[in-house]
Amino acid sequence: MSSILVIDDDASIRETLDLYLVEEGYTVNTAQNGTEGLNKYVSNPADVVILDIRLPDVDGFSVLEDLKEENENVKVIMITAYHDMETTINAMKGGAFDYIHKPVNVDELDMAIKKALKSLEMEKKIEGLLTEPSRNFRVGDIIGTGNEMREIFKTIGVVSQSRTTVLIQGESGTGKELIAKVIHHNTSPDEPFIAVNCSAIVETLLESELFGHEKGSFTGAIARKLGKFELARYGTVFLDEVSEMSLNLQAKLLRVLQELEFERVGGKDKVKVSSRIMAATNKDLKTLVKEGKFRDDLFYRLNIVAINIPPLRTRRQDMPHLIDYLLAKINLDLHKKVIGVSDEIMDIFMNYNWPGNIRELENLLVRACVVAKGQVLGKSDFPELGGDEAANIMKGVLVNPDEMAEIFKPSESGKLLTLDEVEERYIRKVIRETDKNKGEICEVLSISRPTFERKLEKYGITFEKE
Ligand SMILES: Nc1ncnc2c1ncn2[C@@H]1O[C@H](COP(=O)(O)OP(=O)(O)OP(=O)(O)O)[C@@H](O)[C@H]1O
Ligand SMILES: [Mg+2]
Repeated sequence: MSSILVIDDDASIRETLDLYLVEEGYTVNTAQNGTEGLNKYVSNPADVVILDIRLPDVDGFSVLEDLKEENENVKVIMITAYHDMETTINAMKGGAFDYIHKPVNVDELDMAIKKALKSLEMEKKIEGLLTEPSRNFRVGDIIGTGNEMREIFKTIGVVSQSRTTVLIQGESGTGKELIAKVIHHNTSPDEPFIAVNCSAIVETLLESELFGHEKGSFTGAIARKLGKFELARYGTVFLDEVSEMSLNLQAKLLRVLQELEFERVGGKDKVKVSSRIMAATNKDLKTLVKEGKFRDDLFYRLNIVAINIPPLRTRRQDMPHLIDYLLAKINLDLHKKVIGVSDEIMDIFMNYNWPGNIRELENLLVRACVVAKGQVLGKSDFPELGGDEAANIMKGVLVNPDEMAEIFKPSESGKLLTLDEVEERYIRKVIRETDKNKGEICEVLSISRPTFERKLEKYGITFEKE
């Protein structure tokens, strides 16, 4: 029977969890502060410890540390009332197994416990694969409050304890490079972070950028040049837009990742790879693999740990936090004192679909701050929202004229589209790009609800957002 120790100063939480977990078939022990918890753990080690971060005597992180000291395989699930990423990453870095928020959701807790026990079981089978204990680290600022972002923070915490290859996927401007830098910072802060944009450079140049070249290896190679892999030392090579790499170079990169050594262009000496590799792309690599444009073996090499960043339009709850955060950053840069945006602007922002994601938001705010007269950014500070039409595009009521062309693009056969085809494409586009619910979409399309339902059925579109 698996055992669980609950350390929480809140008697009602202790009792509720005790009742629930005993019911679930676990042996349960409880403690009301850190010292008592540690003593109980030492005299009777549990498989899983559920640990409150805020305790009356010592804070949860130091209890976590002591527990890990006692048994580095202990599975600790932290409970906290805080919502920011720093606590999440700290907890995970400190070796917590998982992290849940108050008020405790039993399903979430249940899942975390099951995962912890499963992992314990695996570890018993595969001994010796445990990662190094954590070191101190500094985090960058990544704003994100929803579940998806929270999972990402956990992953960042976990991958920061090792040098695993990480593939970061997300639309443009979602923060791929930012996340790569935070991971790098947490893992090897004193070593270089070297970004290589795989799309910006022609193939032969990219090869010598990555691996370096020997003097005289080609016209213009007047001296030996070290490649990014060498320059990065024990730091990180960040392969940005990795999908754009030619198949030929993909093969070379794969070999390097497999053998962990390479030769400089025109050279014979073997050079060891000691840096960590991270890669990013705004394309779906799996699709490119299916289309034969990206090597599947390279994809698997890069995709050891995947981080998929959700687009901004699917996490609108972050909007106010992002605006606060970005304005603070911009104020510092521009010596401004802008404190927020008007309700009207917030409303428009909350409804816009943000194809350029956080970068687009940041650029818009920078431009507005430059011209802003007051402390609150209003409509007059956003000239791009000048006319009603522009504002409507922002609201997703109208589709951007450039994007309209796509809707009318002739079908594969080159034949002009029928009215139905145009209608279907337009409906799909509005659904896809505006993130609105059924009622709102009816408003945008100016049709009644039954008409909308009929059209969905006619075109076989599944759309459930009430
Ligand atoms: N979650 C976030 N919190 C705060 N700032 C963010 C966040 N995500 C992105 N940013 C900011 O948005 C800008 C764009 O981020 P970044 O360059 O990392 O995106 P990207 O995904 O690499 O974009 P691209 O695909 O265009 O290269 C940066 O200034 C970054 O600091
Ligand atoms: Mg980028």
